[in-house]
Amino acid sequence: MLLTLAAGRRMLFFGGKGGVGKTTVASAVALAQARAGRRVLLVSTDPAHSLGHLWQRAIGPEPRALADNLQAVEIDPAATVDAHLRQVGDSLRRLMPPHLAGEVDRHLALSRDAPGMHEAALLERVATLVHDAPHDHDLLVFDTAPSGHTARLMALPEMMAAWTDGLLRRQERSARFGAALRNLGGDDGVAERAIGGVAAPGTAGDRDQAIRAVLERRRHLFAHLREAMADPQATAFVVVLAAERLPVLETIEFQASLEAAGVHVAALVVNRRSPADAGGFLAGRRAQEQVHLDTLDAALPSIPRVELPLLAEDVVGEAALARFAALLEGAG
Ligand SMILES: Nc1ncnc2c1ncn2[C@@H]1O[C@H](COP(=O)(O)OP(=O)(O)O)[C@@H](O)[C@H]1O
Ligand SMILES: [Mg+2]
Repeated sequence: MLLTLAAGRRMLFFGGKGGVGKTTVASAVALAQARAGRRVLLVSTDPAHSLGHLWQRAIGPEPRALADNLQAVEIDPAATVDAHLRQVGDSLRRLMPPHLAGEVDRHLALSRDAPGMHEAALLERVATLVHDAPHDHDLLVFDTAPSGHTARLMALPEMMAAWTDGLLRRQERSARFGAALRNLGGDDGVAERAIGGVAAPGTAGDRDQAIRAVLERRRHLFAHLREAMADPQATAFVVVLAAERLPVLETIEFQASLEAAGVHVAALVVNRRSPADAGGFLAGRRAQEQVHLDTLDAALPSIPRVELPLLAEDVVGEAALARFAALLEGAG
């Protein structure tokens, strides 16, 4: 079921509590799809990156090959914030009159620790990857951070789009105001007219347009991401969990907050299911797990669910992941 689901989508998100198996399941699905001939990009947005450990190689902020047809990226929120602020700083300094450069630096220094900054920078990177993906990749697989963080992230494109719209409206008003001032000769328009009435590079009219272009691009990026995420034909969100009391309760809450953000949960993966035939202790665990799964079924009866067995060994490296993917195939 999970592999069929993946085959029909362009984006897959794997979410859930820490340690439940998100990175393992996301990697196995990505590998299976790559082996089926699709060009896959596996993206980790979890600050506790474990893709590198799992694949036993260094993975960084730029796509790196893991296997045929499979590349991976680890987005580091802190580094992304730095890069993002550097880029914003560069364009602001270019756009603002030189005497405001100190102001720009102060603003950026404060922004670094502003609430939501990490998420916003992360989201801009995700939006850019999603936007650029069709050129190089057929499928993006996101290995996301533990539940709460991801639910906020999923609601963010909406907020960011609204925020950017607000900025655009303000920018429009101030551009109109600036133009009126220039016509009165109260701004640097005096100088513009003195050199022939055509806006020279770096003049106020130019800056208005450049700021507008930056904002329009962001709005386009976020609107595109929001559309893609809300389209169940293109995107599936999968929650990975263990059949234990708290993970089950958290999954029910997580599903509700995702739904509220307009993101539909397409499947549940219950990982590390205890075997029935490996002794009384594990059989007892399995019976206990069933009680929790009954709670899950009662709360989320219409979301398809697959189960993966608890394995004796860790899942590390491509060969082990391929075996894990075969289990997914078997699980329906
Ligand atoms: N079905 C399983 N049986 C045994 N070990 C598993 C299973 N699934 C995952 N693991 C192991 O559990 C650990 C945590 O998995 P991981 O995918 O990193 O979780 P998450 O990304 O949700 O934090 C890893 O060492 C992984 O090899
Ligand atoms: Mg992980």
